Amino acid sequence: MNNIFPIFDKVLSRESKEKMLKQRGIVIWMTGLSGSGKTTLAIGLEKLLHERGNLVQVLDGDNARSGINNNLGFSTEDRKENIRRISEISKLFVNCGIIVINSFVSPSDELRNLAGSIIGEHDFHLVYVNTPIEICEKRDTKGLYAKARRGEIINFTGISAPFEKPAHPELIINAGEHSYGECLKQLENFTLPKIIL
Ligand code: ADX
Repeated sequence: MNNIFPIFDKVLSRESKEKMLKQRGIVIWMTGLSGSGKTTLAIGLEKLLHERGNLVQVLDGDNARSGINNNLGFSTEDRKENIRRISEISKLFVNCGIIVINSFVSPSDELRNLAGSIIGEHDFHLVYVNTPIEICEKRDTKGLYAKARRGEIINFTGISAPFEKPAHPELIINAGEHSYGECLKQLENFTLPKIIL
């Protein structure tokens, strides 16, 4: 790569930035159904890490899709492009030594493997927020499940589009069985050893 793009020889190294930030840049990739609690946990973890002096960036489906990915829908191809762009952005953050917490439905191993291959397996940590669909649907914080049931939203994950459970997540959070505090603690315990330089 350095031969093709000589500018990469001149940019400051990831190591020097990680040293400055006193942390290792990684990606915590949260997969799970809409309403499973991914983003709430991501924001909770961001706050905990921020309080201990870490630099963190949260990326989430709803935000990304109102900005950089606002031309994408929920077809198989668009979800793939969504995940591809987010993965490339995550890689830039990681190369700056930043801890990235991503909250994307990313409903198939194909999509999650794509993210892992772009980001690099060593920096990519897959967390499955395993909340039963009955609970997600009952919560229906955004009213999307009701709309999907009425047929007003097509390709809705869990209703009219598949969610494939991840084959090899590094962590499974059974958010339907534990309190928010317990789930956040589990996520924190999982993350802390990975960000130590
Ligand atoms: S992904 O499948 O491409 O990874 P992403 O995480 O970006 O999805 O976006 C999911 C969010 O978009 C959901 O939390 C929900 O709020 C909203 N959404 C709107 N339409 C759909 C749909 N058809 N399927 C899933 N989520 C949808």
